[in-house]
Amino acid sequence: MTSGYGKEGPARTVTVSRLAGMKAAGQPVAALTAYDYGFAAACDRAGVDVVLVGDSLGMVVQGHETTLPVTVDDIIYHTRCVARACERALVVADMPFMSHTDVETGLANAGRLMKEGAAQMVKLEGGAEQAALVERLAAHGIPVCAHLGLKPQQVHKLGGYRVQGRDQAEAALMESDARALEDAGADLLILECVPSPLAEHLAGTLEIPVIGIGAGPGCDGQILVLHDVLGVTPQPPRFARDFSREAGGVQAALEAYVTAVRSGAFPTSEHGFAG
Ligand code: KIV
Repeated sequence: MTSGYGKEGPARTVTVSRLAGMKAAGQPVAALTAYDYGFAAACDRAGVDVVLVGDSLGMVVQGHETTLPVTVDDIIYHTRCVARACERALVVADMPFMSHTDVETGLANAGRLMKEGAAQMVKLEGGAEQAALVERLAAHGIPVCAHLGLKPQQVHKLGGYRVQGRDQAEAALMESDARALEDAGADLLILECVPSPLAEHLAGTLEIPVIGIGAGPGCDGQILVLHDVLGVTPQPPRFARDFSREAGGVQAALEAYVTAVRSGAFPTSEHGFAG
């Protein structure tokens, strides 16, 4: 090594400050999930900015009906595989169900994802009640991606995978949650299944980049589950798009996805939800 930097050092890699710079410059962030070395390397080569090792792996890799059975050890294993592949993309590891029930537990598990998994950021579902944990993580130098809107770990409480924030009270709560998480030190926010006008409003008022999934074109970037982009999911959600069928091949599909996010050609209104 001649530069004195590891993988995370050189300017060409995607960092937290680079993501903030992309928002400031109006450059959309293209993010995807990945769970193994081969596909993570393909994402990285395609120019994907952020690779998330999501707990969606419980459904698309392990075949469970929900994300709830996923363990911290599962995420560590898959994050290690992905981190070995990513030379440019920022690697984010999801905190699974019940891994952050209190600040000390959350801090310990996030530390494991960073140390043992080689993650560069952790993601956690939840609103203002997670602010104390986000603050502690930030104090320890652990970057955080918050996750609002549809929180799949709460599927049994919600009664299904539904659009969130449709009525005024829900929208107001989401906005105050987002603000509390940003104030606590979150670096990124994912909005899942949120009406497009609300997502656009949040992206416009928050300083941190807001990445949408089923949240319309007004976000600072987009994320999709890899299996939906590659046409592997038999019944993909309405907000997804099968780039593989259009592009003809995995690498071409991933490149087409990055190009479409960057140019604003994805998502369109057919991939979002009206307010
Ligand atoms: O687990 C996951 O893959 C996610 C994305 C869908 C945002 O949370």
